[in-house]
Amino acid sequence: MKTVTINRLNKYVDKEVEIKGWVYNRRSVGKIWFLILRDGTGLLQCVVVDGECDKNTFNLEQELNQEDSVIVKGKVKKEPRAIGGYELGVSEVCVINHTTEEYPISKKDHGADFLMSNRHLWLRSKRQNSIMRVRHQIVKAIRDYFDDNGFTLIDSPIFTGNSVEGTTTLFGVDYFERSAYLTQSGQLYQEAGATAFGKTYCFGPCFRAEKSKTRRHLTEFWMVEPEMAFVELDENMTWAENLVGFIIQRVLDNCLIELEVLERDISLLENIIPPFPRITYDEASKILKDNGSEFKYGNDFGAPDETILSEQFDKPVMIHRWPANIKPFYMKRDEHDHELALGVDMIAPEGYGEIIGGGQREDDIDILTNSIMHHDLPLEPFKWFLDLRKYGSVPHSGFGLGLERVVAWICGTKHIRETIPFPRTMARLEP
Ligand code: 4AD
Ligand code: MG
Repeated sequence: MKTVTINRLNKYVDKEVEIKGWVYNRRSVGKIWFLILRDGTGLLQCVVVDGECDKNTFNLEQELNQEDSVIVKGKVKKEPRAIGGYELGVSEVCVINHTTEEYPISKKDHGADFLMSNRHLWLRSKRQNSIMRVRHQIVKAIRDYFDDNGFTLIDSPIFTGNSVEGTTTLFGVDYFERSAYLTQSGQLYQEAGATAFGKTYCFGPCFRAEKSKTRRHLTEFWMVEPEMAFVELDENMTWAENLVGFIIQRVLDNCLIELEVLERDISLLENIIPPFPRITYDEASKILKDNGSEFKYGNDFGAPDETILSEQFDKPVMIHRWPANIKPFYMKRDEHDHELALGVDMIAPEGYGEIIGGGQREDDIDILTNSIMHHDLPLEPFKWFLDLRKYGSVPHSGFGLGLERVVAWICGTKHIRETIPFPRTMARLEP
């Protein structure tokens, strides 16, 4: 007898199969009872009829608890009215592990904190399962996009000797006789990569000691960071919008079942086709003023400001040319206005906030040296970074896309903590 998974049952209609999984639910009607089986690939209604299976199996009904692990044997039938469109006529249920304790996550409503504390079990639920599947597809789409467009994967290190995105969100670690930090961004190493390979990317975890308890911040999150030699700000924005368009298309192609479980309005996603609107920081400021925001020119946009901006467009919007003094040391100045940096942020629709940050990098060794000093950063750890401007410096650009923010937007989840298997926030290190 063949062992199969629920998502492949269409290939086994009228065949005897064996499925390994967990009890999701059960209910009975007279001489029949139903076992709803979960195997990680889907749900299946298994029908147990007195006389059509062995006596032990029929008597299991009162014994089985939610999440008991079982192996079920039976014949696959097409049944349009059942979940997933198939049904199993059971001949035997074999119990692998039975618990007498009630499963902590029942069908009733639980608070977010309780569910987060039971994340190791919560991942089994239909909704969490769907979010993780979408996340997987997005990761795969991102890799395919760069792999198929001439980028080389160059992994950036996680232990670093310097900050990238400001010194206030660094996690320090003991590193033998000296101190080190967990990386905030792999960008600086991609700049070395781009001069060695032309176009590179890294995709891995980044760490920020964010004291904010917002629904958009994690202390450990995943970022993909492409970097390209001989690419200026405008072309950089084109790469960014095409990446996002590609991700959305892939999810629409492969994840319709998951998006339905998540009750996501697909029409809003279908609309996300590049090109995306591009506006300057100055234009964005004007939109905010016109819409009654208390935002002050020269500051970064707050979450409510990003929401106002996103509401003006039905696609992500790219905001470029920012006041240089609120952006990191490595950004190139605009040659037409030295107060401005050639940075770009992409803001997702529907109030999901900034999903991409990037820009054109300073390629002049003297300006960059001054900028490092101006930001009160020590020069020594950046010596290697300055070498990239000493030997064959070229205009170059890149960006970082935050994976969890994109998953949150595409899945329509309110809080970013549902978008990563085991979230790390200020208050949470377990499970
Ligand atoms: O805008 P950020 O800070 O940019 C950089 O780190 C650049 N060095 C990237 C580059 O140019 N290579 O971060 C980039 C993105 C943000 O737009 C956001 O999506 C995500 O990373 N991000 C976070 N996601 C979750 N939790 C946090 N604490 C995040 N901080 C940034
Ligand atoms: Mg940013």
